[in-house]
Amino acid sequence: MKIKRLSVYLLLLPFLSCAEPQGTQEGDIESRVNALLGQMTLQEKIGQMNQLSPFGGLEEMAGLIREGNVGSLLNLTDPELVNKAQRIAVEESRLGIPLLMSRDVIHGYKTIFPIPLGQAATFNPQLVEDGARVAAVEASADGIRWTFAPMIDISRDPRWGRIAESCGEDPYLSSVMGVAMVKGFQGDSLNNPTAVAACAKHFVGYGASEGGRDYNSTFIPERQLRNVYFPPFEAAAKAGCATFMTSFNDNDGIPSTGNSFILKDVLRGEWNYDGLVVTDWASSAEMISHGFCKDEKEAATKSVNAGIDMEMVSGTFIRNLEELVKEKKVSEAAIDEAVRNILRLKFRLGLFDNPYTDTDQQVKYAPTHLAKAKEAAEQSVILLKNDRETLPFTDKIRTLAVIGPLADAAHDQMGTWVFDGEKAHTQTVLVALKEMYGDKVRIIYEPGLGYSRDKHTAGIAKAVNAAMRADAVLVCAGEESILSGEAHSLADLHLQGAQSELIAALAKTGKPLVTVVMAGRPLTIGQEVEQSDAVLYAFHPGTMGGPALADLLFGKAVPSGKTPVTFPKMVGQIPVYYAHNNTGRPASRQETLIDDIPQEAGQTSLGCTSFYMDAGFDPLFPFGYGLSYTTFGYDNLQLATNQLAVNGTLEISFDLTNTGKYDGTEVVQLYVQDKVGSITRPVKELKGFRRIPLKQGETKTVSFSLPVEELAFWNIDRQRVVEPGEFNLWVGPNSAEGLQTTFTVK
Ligand code: BGC
Repeated sequence: MKIKRLSVYLLLLPFLSCAEPQGTQEGDIESRVNALLGQMTLQEKIGQMNQLSPFGGLEEMAGLIREGNVGSLLNLTDPELVNKAQRIAVEESRLGIPLLMSRDVIHGYKTIFPIPLGQAATFNPQLVEDGARVAAVEASADGIRWTFAPMIDISRDPRWGRIAESCGEDPYLSSVMGVAMVKGFQGDSLNNPTAVAACAKHFVGYGASEGGRDYNSTFIPERQLRNVYFPPFEAAAKAGCATFMTSFNDNDGIPSTGNSFILKDVLRGEWNYDGLVVTDWASSAEMISHGFCKDEKEAATKSVNAGIDMEMVSGTFIRNLEELVKEKKVSEAAIDEAVRNILRLKFRLGLFDNPYTDTDQQVKYAPTHLAKAKEAAEQSVILLKNDRETLPFTDKIRTLAVIGPLADAAHDQMGTWVFDGEKAHTQTVLVALKEMYGDKVRIIYEPGLGYSRDKHTAGIAKAVNAAMRADAVLVCAGEESILSGEAHSLADLHLQGAQSELIAALAKTGKPLVTVVMAGRPLTIGQEVEQSDAVLYAFHPGTMGGPALADLLFGKAVPSGKTPVTFPKMVGQIPVYYAHNNTGRPASRQETLIDDIPQEAGQTSLGCTSFYMDAGFDPLFPFGYGLSYTTFGYDNLQLATNQLAVNGTLEISFDLTNTGKYDGTEVVQLYVQDKVGSITRPVKELKGFRRIPLKQGETKTVSFSLPVEELAFWNIDRQRVVEPGEFNLWVGPNSAEGLQTTFTVK
């Protein structure tokens, strides 16, 4: 059976989804699952729990699929091969159970969107949802119906390369963005052929890897798990995220793949989750290296007994489970439960009725997709500095020197976790500036360095020479895509290679200097920010990063991105995040810094607080920070009442005025502090945000409704409750500034 899909329709209307067809109601599905399960042999059941990656081509796997020994494939993307593999499963295996075809579609499939950290900087969940929808439409056209995204690990350590894949440091922002991605990937119904099952990963705590070294141990106590690390996962589960993936780390000695507390007690027990749980790549077998299992058999036992349904690639299940059932170390009931979770998803995706993909679809890089990617890139860029209104460029700039290793880096601007995007489709800053603004401005391109790690300084003189001949200088610096992402942690977050020397030399020319940074993480760029007149932080902006930046530089678009993670001044400050608890000696920002300490000063700790003598207390940029070409005034903060019951809702309003010279959009942020708790509480927590577009001179009254129950936390009695008492509340442009008031919960 080959279902022809309406390619043109999809091309024009990628954001629409279809109504639920007949026969997919949940009751129906449950009975179909049970009927099928009843026909399966033990070995066929175990086969469903096996996921393989056919790196060596399909041939070596055909026999296994035919015998019913494979439930899912990952990394097969040629639609002809996808259909071929599916045909073997559907037409040649005894029970004809279709395969789940999967791939890491993280921030786009062909049309690449900004890295997730950049998408989080938009503070625009609708746009993030649209981006995931585009990715799903493109990926499903190749037969991919399961992606391993969103990655919603709370990431407070930019040394960790995978921060690029995350939504940053904040549980609320990560929850909102994670849910947006789930909705985008899955659409309105999993049964729609363009729906791609999402996967909330990595459950749980992976972002807290010791020292930011990938795969490392974490030590997160249960209360912190529940207050900080669980919320995005709980939100994803509640939003119907079809699958979960366990994480590589061992938390407090227990690898997630063998952790029944997180998988059974919390995910299944407390959150009533009925989706599919998959291991991370070989993480069942890796429990042997962890020293948590003595051999493969024990790894399979501990994984299944902890609540894993499917094993990614390491084969410990397929090789051992039959024997383990005979030995009664794993019950057949546990296997049945796992297989039910797998079959349920296959039915929900409509794979039994519609297993094949139409190989003629023309949806990749569709104009609507590129336009969305450009919009996302525009909104992801953060203006960190803009002295003397250096930006946007006016018509006084007749000649622009474009410099730097990221100015024309088609591959690198796509960022990490891109398997399928092609650099031939990427539009770089250099190309976009020439095409879009080449009639207004003469562009002299002189890269200075060949790539971000280039240490050869020979090209710097030429770059300086180009700068001297120009009215302004644009330098695009940062990281190549391979410097962030999985297994790409760094201990030093300065610009790599000779980039700092390049920027210092350009600054010395005295020409207006605009620095664009493309990177997978916040970098310690204090010196470069100081030397530049304006700085735009673009993370890795994806396929359409060039046109987005060109429009921002020339003022056709106005920056509105905000930092989704705190930018440290120096690596030694890490972890540095806004929602920390207060110490008994909170910093007052009036501390004595290292250079102010007299020689032979006598020993004292009086008056001392929690800060670094060499870095002070503040980061380089706080969470939520970002400027615009215009300015915004906050005024007249009002609460409908400041005395609330636990079941009440806080109604907040304030006036926001565009006080500058451009139309623009402000991301307004709402923070709350529970002043006294049964445990110490964060100094601030984000509880809401909105993007407010305002014309020049315009004022709008902005409101937030905050149900008091959203102030609940896991308290001293191990219960999630709102504790009555006094709260501080702020509305403002970032986590460090804003209007403040207080309210009381009775
Ligand atoms: C990563 C996962 C990814 C998987 C499949 C692993 O190494 O940790 O995030 O989904 O590989 O490619």
